[in-house]
Amino acid sequence: MLDTLNDIETSALAELAAADAAGLDAWKAAYLGNKGKLKAAMAGLKDVAKEDKPAVGQRLNAVKSTLEAALEARAGALGASGGGGGAATGPKLDLTEPGLIQSHALGRRHIIMRVREELVEVFARMGFEVAQGPELEDDEHNFIKLNIPPEHPAREPIDNFYVDDPDQVGTPRMLRSQTSTVQIRVLETLLAEGGAPPVKVVSPGRVYRPDTVDATHSFMFHQIEGLYVDRGVTMADLKTTLFQFARAYFGEDAEIRLRPSFFPFTEPSAEFDMMIQLRPDEPPKWVELGGCGMVDPAVFEACGLDPEEWTGFAFGFGIERIAMGRYSIPDIRMLFENDVRFLEQL
Ligand code: DAH
Repeated sequence: MLDTLNDIETSALAELAAADAAGLDAWKAAYLGNKGKLKAAMAGLKDVAKEDKPAVGQRLNAVKSTLEAALEARAGALGASGGGGGAATGPKLDLTEPGLIQSHALGRRHIIMRVREELVEVFARMGFEVAQGPELEDDEHNFIKLNIPPEHPAREPIDNFYVDDPDQVGTPRMLRSQTSTVQIRVLETLLAEGGAPPVKVVSPGRVYRPDTVDATHSFMFHQIEGLYVDRGVTMADLKTTLFQFARAYFGEDAEIRLRPSFFPFTEPSAEFDMMIQLRPDEPPKWVELGGCGMVDPAVFEACGLDPEEWTGFAFGFGIERIAMGRYSIPDIRMLFENDVRFLEQL
């Protein structure tokens, strides 16, 4: 009986070594299957003398395990394992081969976020710190304390995203329409903490207005606000700061101009333009980047600062406008559509 088992093992292993992938099933049926040779040998166990049974039984089990392991190894080697186990014994993988997907697109931060950071960096070199305010504001900070009185048309519900009903609620909440709100927040916090000017901050962030979207308008965009409060601040300081900013960010021959204008929270007020080439096929032209002026005494009073003692300037620019000027982007919608073919160029 032991001889029979040895023979089965020897011939089985020899046949297996010669088998191809298609022959594995037949081999398995011949040796390990229900009608296979091992099963037949097992049936012969009952004729084995009682004292030999344990040894023969053990040998039978050992041959079965050997053949099963050999089958798995052979299947792996032929790449036909069908149930894993092929990796260790299968064909060697060349891990240095390029993958089937040749290019993995590398992500990067959006151009608006990068411009925003660049602007903060330029102003930081001029001594401005960064301040933040909430996007969900109330009309007290968006309007009243900025000297925009109740009857002012800028407060119309049609021009703002109110969250509360402005006719029902005392200080209705709204999505801020300008970052000038942060001027008020900064001064309020400073005084509440027992501090005093000088204050020199910039505040970049999102603002919201229900404008119809076109090449130069969007219902959400970004502004960067600036505020400098100290004793003896003048319009000359404002103009110098803006001019230095323009040269630092746009280059040595940046051209700027201030045009007299009106904002409720500054007096005098101006609009800030820059000579910008938006399209390669058009000559540069004056583009309005934002507003600026000397902080109105009413704003100081609303925040609890004595306007006889303190002076200051403020400015607010559209970040999209600056990005469009700097990178010659002709349409603001390109900044929000997130077409990778556009974003990849920046
Ligand atoms: N908040 C104004 C706007 O959104 C821009 C502005 C004008 C900001 C004058 C200022 C300023 O700080 O002094 O149109």
